Amino acid sequence: MREHLRVLEAGAEFYDTLAAEFCGLARTAIAQKGAFTVALSGGNTPVPLYERLADINRLSTAEWDHISIFQSDERCVPPDHPRSNYRMINDALLSRLGNSAPDVHRMRGEMDPARAAADYEDEIRALEHVVSKRSHSTDSDTMGLDLILLGLGSDGHTASLFPGGSAIGETTRLVMAQSPESQPEPRLTFTPAVFRAARQVWVIASGAGKATTARKVLLGPVTPILLPAQVLRGLAQVTWWLDREAAEELGDSEGPLA
Ligand code: 6PG
Repeated sequence: MREHLRVLEAGAEFYDTLAAEFCGLARTAIAQKGAFTVALSGGNTPVPLYERLADINRLSTAEWDHISIFQSDERCVPPDHPRSNYRMINDALLSRLGNSAPDVHRMRGEMDPARAAADYEDEIRALEHVVSKRSHSTDSDTMGLDLILLGLGSDGHTASLFPGGSAIGETTRLVMAQSPESQPEPRLTFTPAVFRAARQVWVIASGAGKATTARKVLLGPVTPILLPAQVLRGLAQVTWWLDREAAEELGDSEGPLA
């Protein structure tokens, strides 16, 4: 089994399909084990997806009550800061859920980064009742979230794994603080150990601006230190969701990736 590539028309088809697939995964997990654990990405691309998920016709209040929401990464700023991923997730989704009350695990961007990373790792490891012990990684203690949503940066970063970052090669720790030179503030990020243990990892990229990066990441030589999203290459639980504009340099590569 290899990772999968899904290419959809830009706009409504792209986001409606993602929302429907998300709800299907959530319902299956809740039916099987009474819980669904998902880590949400930051950035702009997922906003229309989160807005669709807030629609009361998607998931019921009872279903949201069985969902635990984590973050894949965060900028080290307060939660009400314009650059906060939590603020974006709250504006697009959480604040629109009305009486639905998912279990939300916010990364503490306002804290000392190293402390915040250690605390968040403890928080994940403590949630044994909702996090699968099944792991794909070499670290038998690594937990498995049901779904991790990630974006793709034009420089090939994903979550807050930026080129040259020390977290790219991490196999044991689950959450690390990073200080990318290209960013105005330090970051908190899941490490590849979390991605490898997850049941499903979705990378979502849209727009022509991501086309060249998508080609390099998916079809080029695998050098994760330069293109960190390539830590996901070869993982069967990974699905790359691209709209036609982001996929324009891939030819007809849809389906299982070689
Ligand atoms: C962040 C994100 C980051 C993002 C990519 C893509 O904190 O910025 O987690 O990894 O997903 O940079 O961002 P866009 O979706 O805005 O292109």
